[in-house]
Amino acid sequence: MHPSKILLAALLLSTLALSATSSKVTYDGRAIIIDGKHKLLVSGSIHYPRSTAEMWPDLIKKSKEGGLDAIETYVFWDSHEPARREYDFSGNLDLIRFLKTVQDEGLYAVLRIGPYVCAEWNYGGFPVWLHNMPGVQMRTANDVFMNEMKNFTTLIVNMVKQENLFASQGGPVILAQIENEYGNVMSSYGDEGRAYVEWCANMAQSLHIGVPWIMCQQSDAPEPMINTCNGWYCDQFTPNRPTIPKMWTENWTGWFKSWGGKDPHRTAEDLAFAVARFYQLGGTFQNYYMYHGGTNFGRTAGGPYITTSYDYDAPLDEYGNLNQPKWGHLKELHDVLHSMEDTVTRGNISSVDFGNSVSGTIYSTEKGSSCFFANTDSKNDTTINFQGIDYKVPAWSVSILPDCENVVYNTAKVSAQTSVMVKKTNVAEDEPAALSWSWRPETNDKSILFGRGDVTANQILDQKEAANDLSDYLFYMTSVNLKEDDPIWGNNMTLRIAGSGQVLHVFVNGEFLGSQWAKYGVFDYVFEQQIKLNKGKNIITLLSATVGFANYGANFDLTQAGVRGPVELVGYHDDEIVIKDLSSHKWSYKVGLEGLYQELFSSDSSKWQQDNYPTNQMFTWYKSSFKAPLGTDPVVVDLIGLGKGLAWVNGNSIGRYWPSFIAEDGCSLDPCDYRGSYDNNKCVTNCGKPTQRWYHVPRSFLNNEGDNTLVLFEEFGGDPASVNFQTIAIGSACVSAEENKKIELSCQGRPISAIKFASFGNPLGTCGSFSSGTCEASNDAISIVEKACVGQESCTIDVSEDTFGSTTCGDDVIKTLAVEAIC
Ligand code: GAL
Repeated sequence: MHPSKILLAALLLSTLALSATSSKVTYDGRAIIIDGKHKLLVSGSIHYPRSTAEMWPDLIKKSKEGGLDAIETYVFWDSHEPARREYDFSGNLDLIRFLKTVQDEGLYAVLRIGPYVCAEWNYGGFPVWLHNMPGVQMRTANDVFMNEMKNFTTLIVNMVKQENLFASQGGPVILAQIENEYGNVMSSYGDEGRAYVEWCANMAQSLHIGVPWIMCQQSDAPEPMINTCNGWYCDQFTPNRPTIPKMWTENWTGWFKSWGGKDPHRTAEDLAFAVARFYQLGGTFQNYYMYHGGTNFGRTAGGPYITTSYDYDAPLDEYGNLNQPKWGHLKELHDVLHSMEDTVTRGNISSVDFGNSVSGTIYSTEKGSSCFFANTDSKNDTTINFQGIDYKVPAWSVSILPDCENVVYNTAKVSAQTSVMVKKTNVAEDEPAALSWSWRPETNDKSILFGRGDVTANQILDQKEAANDLSDYLFYMTSVNLKEDDPIWGNNMTLRIAGSGQVLHVFVNGEFLGSQWAKYGVFDYVFEQQIKLNKGKNIITLLSATVGFANYGANFDLTQAGVRGPVELVGYHDDEIVIKDLSSHKWSYKVGLEGLYQELFSSDSSKWQQDNYPTNQMFTWYKSSFKAPLGTDPVVVDLIGLGKGLAWVNGNSIGRYWPSFIAEDGCSLDPCDYRGSYDNNKCVTNCGKPTQRWYHVPRSFLNNEGDNTLVLFEEFGGDPASVNFQTIAIGSACVSAEENKKIELSCQGRPISAIKFASFGNPLGTCGSFSSGTCEASNDAISIVEKACVGQESCTIDVSEDTFGSTTCGDDVIKTLAVEAIC
């Protein structure tokens, strides 16, 4: 071989060997150390089953562009092991493919195995078969449980090891988590709980993953487990040993939504404030929960009553679009923080109290210093003096000075663009106005309502036990024989049922009597309605429809689902109430619906009727075909007009729908003031509107050529006439930034078509309603911005008098640029 070729081959070999080099992940009291380097890490949660494998590369790329170093995910036991020792890692459950996608993008991964995960996921991620194992007690020192937990954890660790995905093997996974927030509930489990934590730590350690293990919200986490913090703020958190770094595994970027609940929003200003405070006060690893929340497809939503959307107001929205300005404001913060990695993770720390709730932190190394100034007052802006220079620190904000002299970032000053997302009608439809529908009733055979089930028991069963989570739907049926001389008999008889808080439909002798349900956080209610009974045999049929199982709290796994009982007939006589308890009658149970067994959502059954479809009729299946919207923008289906049910596109479940559940009151008309501690009742929207009207249809569920099928199972009764497909895209982009900033405007992949407003001076208003103020630059701002931006997918503008000409604002006014661009 020619010598130069030998050299090339050797070089290739050495680069190969280099890329396969494993990373050593250790830590000290300051930071996670990777290959000897102290790291300032910013991470974000993306739960792989809440999107599709086709979406992952784009989501992870946008995460990297947003300045993340790592992606955190839970592992979802119930989805991976739907039946004991039967596993599923296909499609959006392909954990290994997800981790490799993270690796391909050059990011680290944090693997939160749990396998209890909470996460507003059905039953907190526990498979329901586990609950049905004899002798099991969850999350405590119980052999049956520990054996299953160890089995699943070992399986996951081995899969990851086999693909060399731990950093110790050259892979992206730098940390793994066992359990989840057990410390929040441990006291309810007594000594057994303590023993369980020890067992978790030992079991995890015995798996030899070569990277550190973490336990979140576990202040007594045994060595060498690293205890970490979860919450909206974690700046005050101190780890339980001085030898471990201060880490934040869940910084809630917003909050989840429940059926009937409001839309939560957490502002970019407050989120950035929380992050900056954390790094100011010694934190070195912070993770956004969620960075992309996504969608609860199928029956994965927990709660009960968590919506199908798990948008979370995260930096990437449910569909994977940038949620601006949040994404951009945080990106800027990450860039600044990363530029200070060395000082923040290794420097000497000193602090200054400036009074008036303003505190400064100075990190210094031999190479230089970096400073943070925080104003934690929720109302008053304050000016401080540091080393002879005055700095104005707005209320509830942190200023960051990477060189301790120039403020490069302030959490309250958002110069990232606000993107206004719009929904567009499906232009691929020939007749976009209306879809045409075929339909069929759930069953023509009403026998089910007359008591014929699959199993019987002389008691009311917990739905988890009777249905094993195979379906949301469970029929409970019993019969009652009444004679006229029965003490209960009379004109005023009721049926009284204690339910679990979830949805209940009641039928007597095949006729519908009534329905009832509660809302998130309400675990029981009593249904009571007058009934007319026959002399002789009467059939009582209860259809329970669960909307996910409980996922949080001490012993949440024991929260009963379905009909709780007692089920009673009550006779109201003049001076006496007679109660007939039916609870220990012979009950017959049937799981699921006929249409589900027949797989109406995917099969091409011929039993669909083409004639005029019925509306407002319970238990009706509807089917329609449609063309995939052109282009690549995310697709949603608007289910307005429907009640509650399940929806499928080409056989893929897009989740439960419930547009008839109207969000509660409690939205304020005042503009949202981000200052002061956030909680999920602050800055809420959507009061009085359908909790969730639009449902995500991932592009990979659609055929671009030919027809697509939408199938709905309507449980309550509704009208599909207004159902239609839409795409989501950015409609306009606004910026409002102070001078001496470089701003970027982008239509996210499409050209900027026009500039609707631009003014440099002291413009007023917010995006969509900007107007000029009392002073303005001499040059025409609109034409300057037009020149720089129109026709481009993105443009950068220097916000200064150099660009826009001098103003008449005077020196006391901080000049700003406001722009509204049309995409
Ligand atoms: C935490 C939990 C997460 C998630 C979050 C709320 O307590 O660890 O899994 O449930 O609350 O979204």
